[in-house]
Amino acid sequence: MGTLIDSNPQQLVWLITGTSSGIGRHLALEVLKRGDRVIATARARSMPQLQSLAVLGADVLELDVTDSPEHLKEIAKKAVALHGHVDVVVNNAGISVMGSIEEHTLEESYQQFNTNFFGGVSIARAFLPYMRERRSGTILWIGSLAGWTPSISFGMYSAAKHAVRGISETLNAEISHLGLRSHVVELGYFSTNIIPNRIPYVPRISDYSEIIGRADGYFDSIYGHEPGDPAKAATIIVDLVRGRVLRRARRFRLFWGWVRITIKRPSCIART
Ligand SMILES: NC(=O)c1ccc[n+]([C@@H]2O[C@H](COP(=O)([O-])OP(=O)(O)OC[C@H]3O[C@@H](n4cnc5c(N)ncnc54)[C@H](OP(=O)(O)O)[C@@H]3O)[C@@H](O)[C@H]2O)c1
Repeated sequence: MGTLIDSNPQQLVWLITGTSSGIGRHLALEVLKRGDRVIATARARSMPQLQSLAVLGADVLELDVTDSPEHLKEIAKKAVALHGHVDVVVNNAGISVMGSIEEHTLEESYQQFNTNFFGGVSIARAFLPYMRERRSGTILWIGSLAGWTPSISFGMYSAAKHAVRGISETLNAEISHLGLRSHVVELGYFSTNIIPNRIPYVPRISDYSEIIGRADGYFDSIYGHEPGDPAKAATIIVDLVRGRVLRRARRFRLFWGWVRITIKRPSCIART
């Protein structure tokens, strides 16, 4: 695998959504470690968790990706004002809503898509005007193994991650002539809070209780034993954005602790 994108020796300004835990938090820490600037964001209830990032030099902003597009535009304006620009926006915030597709209410389905899909779309729309003006910027989307495979008990999550891949790749095709890029990084199973924080299954149709219960039990059993190390994923993601060669990106496979990154087809996979 050769060099993926041009090296960028400059200090970059990153804005990351959902940095109170997991991938987002590790990414913020890695960005700081590299000497870049990070605007770490979280929804109101999780702002105290950003204190330790602020101590390390992060700027912190309250940002709920499900807020109105108008409000998110105001936040983008505030974020850009901090350092004059934002180079990299990471659409990381995510939740998982458990249950079978037939049992889900429309509200539950919207809740899943509003956070994992439309939230990212609104964030991209809020920052793209500034990026277009500078003819420079990257939108990074955190996708998932579930964006490729059938995912019993989290079908709406899976559907939203399929959509994330679709929008990232299409957006890239629409903005690359402007010097901008949009990439999706798709993760296998990583040790974060996504399993304990999952929105629980509400049984409504007895025909599904066994299959969904079994899948739910599986998540409980792997929690704490996920093979993917989020700190290593963060290293790979920052390497990617900074244009470092992904020497470990050899295999085309997506599973467990693997990270799949679509820059141009074919994608490359890195083992964490
Ligand atoms: N862990 C994995 O195995 C895995 C695999 C594939 C993809 N991913 C993706 O990785 C991303 C990060 O998840 P994670 O695994 O690191 O889980 P996590 O530890 O639960 O982190 C999720 C983050 O998203 C935030 N968030 C949720 N709803 C939000 C909203 N409306 N606005 C702003 N922030 C919000 C959470 O904040 P609160 O503290 O306020 O809840 C938290 O900081 C997600 O997109 C997830 O789908 C994870």
